[in-house]
Amino acid sequence: MSVPKDLRSFLHTVEEAGPRFFRRVEKPVNPNFDVSVIQQKLTKTGQFPVLHFTKTIGSPLSIVSNLFGNYENLGLALDLKPKQMAEVGKGCILEEYIKRKADVGIYRDVNPSRSPVRELVIRGDQVDLALLPIGRHAELNGGKYITIGVTVLVDPDTGHINAGIYRHMILGKDSITCNITPNHHGSRIIKRYQELGKSIPVAIIIGHHPALFMGAAYSGPSIAGEFEFISTLLNEPLDVVKGITVDVPIFARSEIAIEGILNPNELVKDGPFSEATGYYDDGNICPTIKVMAITMRHDAIYHDLCPMNHEHLQVNKLGRESLIYEGVKKIMPCLRSVHQGPESAVSSGVCFAAINKISNDDGYKVGMAIIDQMRSPKLVVIVDDDVDIFDQSEVLWAVCTRMGQKDKAVSIHTSKNSPIVLIDATKPLGELFPKRSGLPQNNWDAIRLEDYL
Ligand SMILES: Cc1cc2nc3c(=O)[nH]c(=O)nc-3n(C[C@H](O)[C@H](O)[C@H](O)COP(=O)(O)O)c2cc1C
Repeated sequence: MSVPKDLRSFLHTVEEAGPRFFRRVEKPVNPNFDVSVIQQKLTKTGQFPVLHFTKTIGSPLSIVSNLFGNYENLGLALDLKPKQMAEVGKGCILEEYIKRKADVGIYRDVNPSRSPVRELVIRGDQVDLALLPIGRHAELNGGKYITIGVTVLVDPDTGHINAGIYRHMILGKDSITCNITPNHHGSRIIKRYQELGKSIPVAIIIGHHPALFMGAAYSGPSIAGEFEFISTLLNEPLDVVKGITVDVPIFARSEIAIEGILNPNELVKDGPFSEATGYYDDGNICPTIKVMAITMRHDAIYHDLCPMNHEHLQVNKLGRESLIYEGVKKIMPCLRSVHQGPESAVSSGVCFAAINKISNDDGYKVGMAIIDQMRSPKLVVIVDDDVDIFDQSEVLWAVCTRMGQKDKAVSIHTSKNSPIVLIDATKPLGELFPKRSGLPQNNWDAIRLEDYL
């Protein structure tokens, strides 16, 4: 029988995949800054392992971070094997995501007594968020933040369940902010509760399988179907259990759940906050949540995310890439694959695409179609499908060697917020072009570096 998916099953997966994917840190770390410094120092050297800090200064809980640091982790979260991704290329990760997106999963209620998140229940006066190793992530941040919890709200009219990831600044032992952008479904639900004059029950879930966060970060067209989508990405039914103080479903296999009542009339300014862009945002006026209970596993692992790192954007990278791919493929069938840039860059404004060119203006047309699908495009590069769009140096090589014609790079001004650079780095059709140099495939395949080095 297969093990149900949760954070622990995923840690097992990455540990099995080897040190490129997982590192255990035994030396004690301070949740304030240490975790982010270690993660960012690794990023600067091109290393993106999941980090499990087993000893936390000031807390009995261990900390996991960098769960989304590596694009291949998104593939591991979708049950792909490292060998498979290495052999067929990382394009299979988006293919698997798009395949799963087409399915509809299920969620089911399970017995609370068999729900790991119920092993410890802390409620009433005992509630104290200082029990959790919630840390500071940047020098000028306004406080300590929960940076990757899934916030669950129930639509008061339809009963539909909404899941989104929103940042929460710690205000006190049982009080946090809830920063939801007005256009998100979560905001609409809160507004509706206000109109009905009803109290707003909420749960924030910390620590679960990465596919669950990928599902929560994807903004579908409607509030309905979010748990079903999460289950689809997990590729198994999602087990839920009702909260003990609020009528909100909680993921039974989570590490930690925070239950509370959101007060839309008690507003405070959060921030400054170190955003995914690499800049501070001044903060927003946010409603607050009064925490009613914390439930958790007896040896709970706290999941942290360094928000100013590329990891932040990686959580929903497949969601954004899938929308680009699906939108463009319909009108430009020559599109083969898309990728929103390398792990080491803040890359939601970047898109590399590979095409199988049939006509000489395909590169430009695909580029324009991609720009149309992106929210804030900055740089779009189109290459032939012999170029690996997951390798930035190959993309730049194509730019340097194939962008021979003067009309192949254009700076476009659209109704979007700033100029966009579109580079068509494909070879011209119908002209003699030098053959790409390379080694014999047999020799390449026969040599395993570990046998020599
Ligand atoms: C790490 C991370 C942090 C995020 N922080 C916020 C946030 O603070 N506020 C917000 O409105 N959206 C935030 N988002 C984006 C939302 O989670 C995402 O758009 C989600 O689909 C919104 O869900 P909803 O439309 O169902 O409310 C964040 C996403 C990620 C991956």
